[in-house]
Amino acid sequence: MIVIKTPSEFQKWREKQSDKTIGFVPTMGYLHDGHLSLIKQAKTDNDRVVASIFVNPLQFGAGEDFTTYPRDLLRDRELAKEAGVDVLFLPDKKDMYPSPMASLIRITQGIDTLCGKNRPGHFDGVATVVMKLFQIVQPNSAYFGLKDAQQVAVIERMVKDYFVPIEIVRVPTVREADGLAKSSRNVHLTDAERRQASAIYRTLSEIKEHVMSGKETIMNLELAGKKKVEEETKSSVDYFTIRHFPSLDPVEQINEAKESELIIACAVAFSEVRLIDNIIFKL
Ligand code: PAF
Repeated sequence: MIVIKTPSEFQKWREKQSDKTIGFVPTMGYLHDGHLSLIKQAKTDNDRVVASIFVNPLQFGAGEDFTTYPRDLLRDRELAKEAGVDVLFLPDKKDMYPSPMASLIRITQGIDTLCGKNRPGHFDGVATVVMKLFQIVQPNSAYFGLKDAQQVAVIERMVKDYFVPIEIVRVPTVREADGLAKSSRNVHLTDAERRQASAIYRTLSEIKEHVMSGKETIMNLELAGKKKVEEETKSSVDYFTIRHFPSLDPVEQINEAKESELIIACAVAFSEVRLIDNIIFKL
């Protein structure tokens, strides 16, 4: 595995790969099985796999967990190498964000709900860094986990809007045995919270069955889901929302949703960490 730290060095490597397909896995590090499944899929589909690690300050709001976001570069390098990454790209802040910054991607659709609603500027930060990484890496395809479903929707739309010739590959969420979605942030749960956190996926699955049966209104199911997760996790639920996917438009009537995919998404604020999860399905 080659480790590259600057965009110019990366571009030199990239110029020599013109006859190869490149799969790209952008990450913020602290790699877990979810990232490894993205790398595995990228390896299956491409001649070369590039992964990046950059904890992107631009996507963290004031008071969010930028400084405490878990980091372990030595371990990440080992895991990336074992997983078969060909190039690990580790840019630093001064290369990614020369000061003062002169341009920014601004997301204007699909952010009035889920995480976009309570994290103003978050998806502008994600889109800006992903666009910069895409310009440097120039991959054929890029791999994103569906745990961050709104991020996937935003990036798919951005790629379409800016005619970026990169295929966005959606990869299913990887879960612990009790259903909790794998996330770098799970290390910040206390032992009790870790046990309670399994209620998130359990409740999403139960509410999905109720949506499928079509007997309750969307609003009642959102309220019931929120109440159940709050009771079982003993934590506050930021949102428990049912929407169309990937538009994230509201679902007025369950019947109207027969042709499209739906998402049930939830965010829970534990004592030290906020976790998100979702289920995407067709009726
Ligand atoms: O999903 C993440 O880890 C980040 O949002 C991403 C896509 C690497 C951009 O910083």
